[in-house]
Amino acid sequence: MIAIYDSGIGGASVLLAVRAIAPDVDILYLADQAHVPYGDRSPDDIRAIALDCADWLVAQGAIPVVVACNTASAVALSAMRARYPDIPFVGMVPAVKPAAQQSVSGVIGVMATAATLQGQLLADVTHAHAPHLTVVGQPCHGLVEFVEAGDVDSPSVRQAVASHVAPLVAAGADVLVLGCTHYPFLRAAIADAAPGITIIDPAPAVAQQAIRLSLAHGASIHERGQTAYYTTGSVSHLQWQIAALGLPPGTVCARTKEQQT
Ligand code: DGL
Repeated sequence: MIAIYDSGIGGASVLLAVRAIAPDVDILYLADQAHVPYGDRSPDDIRAIALDCADWLVAQGAIPVVVACNTASAVALSAMRARYPDIPFVGMVPAVKPAAQQSVSGVIGVMATAATLQGQLLADVTHAHAPHLTVVGQPCHGLVEFVEAGDVDSPSVRQAVASHVAPLVAAGADVLVLGCTHYPFLRAAIADAAPGITIIDPAPAVAQQAIRLSLAHGASIHERGQTAYYTTGSVSHLQWQIAALGLPPGTVCARTKEQQT
């Protein structure tokens, strides 16, 4: 069983990528919808709520734990690894490396939350893989909320997407990195706002890494192909999101503190 965790439904972009590779693996998905969005919270706040989610996920016994949230990865991944040194964690790192390999203009746009753009992971990956390139970050306020509301194609969301993409296009970016797992659900709107620009979604690469780690730790990816969704928020809203976004069907439950023990 593989655990996938996000502040909300965005991590389902990674869930879909895992399912595409390993249709038989059991997946436990945790959406921390009592606290979504994470992106404008303080690092201390994000770290505390992400560690609480990690405690619960580790108690469920899934391997690996995929932190399918760029924001939680940027702020709390090192703290999770320090608390659970024997548990394999897979985090989201802004895909600057493949972007640097594909950029001709030398300008890479990174769409992410404010917390991700301020985090050390983006600085490290830029230093390691694109020191000679210009990496322009765009804090995309509001986009997570649209996806959480199941709105991926209305005139309002398209207008919001266009306003966030325009500065990156104006800066000369020819590659856009989706630095938040909610944004692949807005891919059509982003592509329309950035014609001719390459869009990089790291979900398939993260999914491959998750499967690799699962196998390396002796887990089987040939299970029953079941998907168990948990939320700290509203079960009925998550059920509605699963249908609205065309996600794999599964059981949907509230994550309660009692399940931690
Ligand atoms: N999917 C999360 C990410 O990748 C969204 C963060 C948020 O809740 O603001 O960053």
